Amino acid sequence: MSQAGQPPSQQQLKLAAAIYAIETFVQSGMHIGLGSGSTSELFVEELARRTNAGQYFNLVTVATSQKVAALAQTFGLSVVELDDVPRLDLVVDGADEIEPRSFALIKGRGGALLREKLVASAALLEVIIADESKLVTRLGEKMPIPVEVVSFGWHHIASRLRALGCDPILRLRNDKPYLTDSSNYILDCRFAPITDPAGLSVAIKNIVGVVEHGLFIGLAGRVVIAAQDQVYELKTS
Ligand code: A5P
Repeated sequence: MSQAGQPPSQQQLKLAAAIYAIETFVQSGMHIGLGSGSTSELFVEELARRTNAGQYFNLVTVATSQKVAALAQTFGLSVVELDDVPRLDLVVDGADEIEPRSFALIKGRGGALLREKLVASAALLEVIIADESKLVTRLGEKMPIPVEVVSFGWHHIASRLRALGCDPILRLRNDKPYLTDSSNYILDCRFAPITDPAGLSVAIKNIVGVVEHGLFIGLAGRVVIAAQDQVYELKTS
């Protein structure tokens, strides 16, 4: 995994998790959801390399962002829309935080959370790939929850999110509101470490104007972690 004597870089760890997922879960003929983010991009590149080398055939993929769709097409993978397939066999995606006992996640730092959740919901199995820096005792320890909201009246939506105990920050790009692939805004909501992710998930989703949020609960079926000395799967408790 690493140069002789050197600990593996984070990039090498991400690639190791991606390769594990390919070798363990991918079979020819599958409909596969492609996650977004740097770890998922390594998965896409390696999957395409092996497909182009003849290791897999008849793969059909669905991308969770315009960026990863373009990447997959550049590498020669067949990419269709989610509505072109009745279901997906598998989706492989990254995460920003992973709570190892329940496989609850925070996702969406890359802004793709809406499509990531839709694609995960359409898949028979979601596999999360990550380096061990993503493991937390409680969600919210390190990362805000990204909340995708409509732009109309977003200050009002932010006030209602604030009432749940966070400090919503409008995500910007080049000093303008960041726009998701669905042309919505993202409010990054920093909470104290979260004791009841399921309850918070419902409370956020109930706010009018919230399109989706980055708490992923009950979606991940398997979690692959690349550590310094091994790649392993988390076991649910
Ligand atoms: C994209 O919106 C995110 O959910 C990513 O999957 C997540 O941020 C992990 O990204 P990295 O693999 O780049 O850490």
